[in-house]
Formats: sequence, structure tokens, C-alpha cells
Amino acid sequence: MADNWQPDSWRSKPVIQVPTFPDAAKLDEVENRLRGYPPLVFAGEARQLKKSLAAAVDGEAFLLQGGDCAESFAEFHPDNIRDTFRVMLQMAVVLTFGSACPVVKVGRMAGQFAKPRSSDNETREGITLPSYRGDMVNDMAFTTEGRVPDPERMVQAYNQAAATQNLLRAFAQGGYADLHKVHQWNLDFVGDSPLGDRYRDLACRLDETLDFMAACGLTAQTTPQIRETEFFTSHEALLLQYEQAMTRIDSISGDWYDTSAHMLWIGDRTRQLDGAHVEFLRGVANPVGVKAGPTTSPDDLLRLIDVLNPDNEAGRLSVIVRLGAEKVEALLPPLLRAVKREGRRVVWSCDPMHANTITSDSGYKTRPVESILREVKGFFAAHQAEGTHAGGVHFEMTGQNVTECVGGGHPVTDDGLGARYHTHCDPRLNAEQSLELAFLISEVLKDQRLEQRKADRAAIVDGAE
Ligand code: PEP
Ligand code: CO
Repeated sequence: MADNWQPDSWRSKPVIQVPTFPDAAKLDEVENRLRGYPPLVFAGEARQLKKSLAAAVDGEAFLLQGGDCAESFAEFHPDNIRDTFRVMLQMAVVLTFGSACPVVKVGRMAGQFAKPRSSDNETREGITLPSYRGDMVNDMAFTTEGRVPDPERMVQAYNQAAATQNLLRAFAQGGYADLHKVHQWNLDFVGDSPLGDRYRDLACRLDETLDFMAACGLTAQTTPQIRETEFFTSHEALLLQYEQAMTRIDSISGDWYDTSAHMLWIGDRTRQLDGAHVEFLRGVANPVGVKAGPTTSPDDLLRLIDVLNPDNEAGRLSVIVRLGAEKVEALLPPLLRAVKREGRRVVWSCDPMHANTITSDSGYKTRPVESILREVKGFFAAHQAEGTHAGGVHFEMTGQNVTECVGGGHPVTDDGLGARYHTHCDPRLNAEQSLELAFLISEVLKDQRLEQRKADRAAIVDGAE
């Protein structure tokens, strides 16, 4: 257990990006209520995720983390949960085929409700109000009442997270994720595109593989991995009052777990070494992540790793780099080298979203799919050159047919952004764009795997001589 740590020790540290709630008594009352609510995840599941992530440290598994930038109360609908879940299943199948290693699926779902903002206030037509900080804090509507932080929203977020988690568990374990259903995961609007054909092709190959396995005696009845999957949840641990209220001692291990999600991460804006967010997450035993943006120096990162993973436990810490397509080539190698030199065991994950945000000519906040692809490629290339493992990716994406990121196979154009721009915060990849990325990454992983196999064979031949 972490030294000198308590679930509330963050309160004595400098805290940013957490709003001041005007009604302190109500805040107290809500925190107390939440403390009595059931955990949303079980500590044993978080340990299982940690184990799976440990394999990603050594390139023996691949992390796929994705979901909304911000979940919202308005978009709470079973179809939205199902569609994001199934695009992630599709992506995972594509990636598994390429990498021939397990894909660890982690949703930015069932708790991703609080957002850091670049400014405390927002001004429109001469009126200044507090910024929107996610549905867990205040309302997106630009009204005086709406923007007041309201603790009761934490309870609504908890309830929505509980229902979302429940549906995800049902989908993952109740038959929806059965590999025999791989054809049915194709979404209508992806189905009639070249990408849809490519996916169908792969699904047919998977059918053949399943037939072959069945002939060998491995069926959905004998092999649960065929009929069900593991799907984990995660969010940015930003609103610390909520996270503290969900933090409980696990009766089996005696350790503290934040039971609001399996995995929690610290954002790029709140990763100060002596700040409240680092203090809070250093003490919970969940797998945790830390975002690393362009201002992260190798020394900063090593110090963060020291604090967040002092025992150098594989699977405990994921470093989620978000450097931007232009900077990844220059900034990533020094980080990889420093961590390798110090022998630190982390999952390296690539978030190609957050440093590639631009404002389009039509005035929308968007991200070019081309830049996203370029950052992912740069991420893989840097790992290849440094002899380190690209352990995963972190996307803002949705199963909906939105028009928020420009480009892609069925290109979303600048003029087309307004058609279905629904995000409550940052622009997300739509289902087709997400699948396109999965195919690209799958190819890179496949090339790496084949190269490795060639090297292994050469080593055997050398050894035999
Ligand atoms: C996010 O993941 O939505 C986010 C705010 O990311 P970052 O901390 O990397 O800016
Ligand atoms: Co975001």
C-alpha cells in the first residue's frame, strides 16, 4: 500500500480542473450518499485487467482503449452503448488477426463524464459564464443556472454508469460478443463501403477458422473465449470528490481500489507531480494511465513513473502519449529511451487525437483522419527504431455515423461537418473511420509479427549451424 496515503489525502494538495461547488453542504451530503452505493466494478476484475495489460508491456497483448470524449446524459441510449461496443469488437477482431495476440478492450465508457477545460470561463456575445466541465458537473447549455456546478449530477452520472456497465457486461458475456456473430457486428452504414467488404472478407476467414477449430473439438461450448469476451471500463479520474467516494478497501487483498471503473487515468493538464490528481491515483491499486503531451520531458515522465508505479509492476501504468503528428517523431524517442534506460515497465499507448485538434474553416473543432493516421504511424516507427513495444492505442470514437473528424474512406468534408456533429466535447472518429484505423494498425502489427518470425527462424538456423 502507498505510504502516507488516504482516499482523501489529495485534499491537502494543489488541485486544478475541479470546480468549486457553491453549495458545500449539498456536496457533502452527495459524497456521503455515494459512499454507501455499490461499487461499479469488482477489484478482482481490475486485477485481471492489470494482468492483461502486463502482457502488453512486452508486446504480447495490445490495448484498444476507446469511446466518447465525454459521455452525456442526453446521449444515454442503449443503441449508443451497443454501437460503440460493437465497433470496438470489430476493431478487436481486425487487430487480433493482424497481431495474433490478445487485444485488451477498454471502453472510455460508464464514467467518462468530467472534462478539463483550457479556460475557467466562456464568453459569448459579451456574457461570461463558467465553462462546461462535463455532465457530471454542470450543463452544456449556456445559461447562468445551467453552468452552476451541481453535486446531484454526480449521482445521475453514477446511475448512468451503473446501467451502462450492466449492459456492457450483458453484451460481453451474454452471447452478443460470440465470434460466430462477427458478420452481424457490421453496421449498415459501413456495410456498403469498400471497408465493409474488407471486413466481410475477414469475417469469412474467421468463420473458416471457427469451423476448423470446431472440427478439432474447440467449440463455443467447450471454449468460453469463443462465446464471450472481456470488456473493461475506464475514464479520466478528474472529479476527485466522486472518485474518492467510490474508493473502497478490497476485502480480499486489503488494498484500496477506485471502484468507479477498472482503469483510471490522469489527463495531460492534471499530471503535476505534487498535485491532487497524482496524489489520488498513486494510492489506488487499479491499473492507471497518465497522458503525456508535448511538454512532458523525459525527466518529468520518469518522476511520474516513480510516483505512480514505485514497484515497477507491469500492467500497473500505461503512458498514453499524445504528441501530435508533427511532433511525435522528435519527441517520442527521447521518452522511450529514458524509460528503457531506467528499466521501467509501462504500456506505451498512442492517443493520436488530442494533439491533432484544429478549427475547420467552417468553424468546427475537428481532427483530420490523415493526421491521426500519421501520428499512429510515427508512434509505431519510433518503437520499431528504439526496440520498444507499441502496446496500444487510445481513440475518441463512437459507433454512431457522426461527422466530427474530417477525412476517411467515405470522406467527411469540411462543409459536411455540420451534418451530424453531436459530440459534447472533442470530435470523435465515426464507426467507419475507426475501422479504417484498425485495419491500418493491423497491417503494421502483422508486418512486425512476420519480421519477428523471420528473425526467430534465422536464429534457429544460426543455432543449428
Ligand atoms: C481526453 O482524453 O479527453 C483529454 C482531455 O485528454 P488530454 O488530457 O490528453 O488532453
Ligand atoms: Co477528449
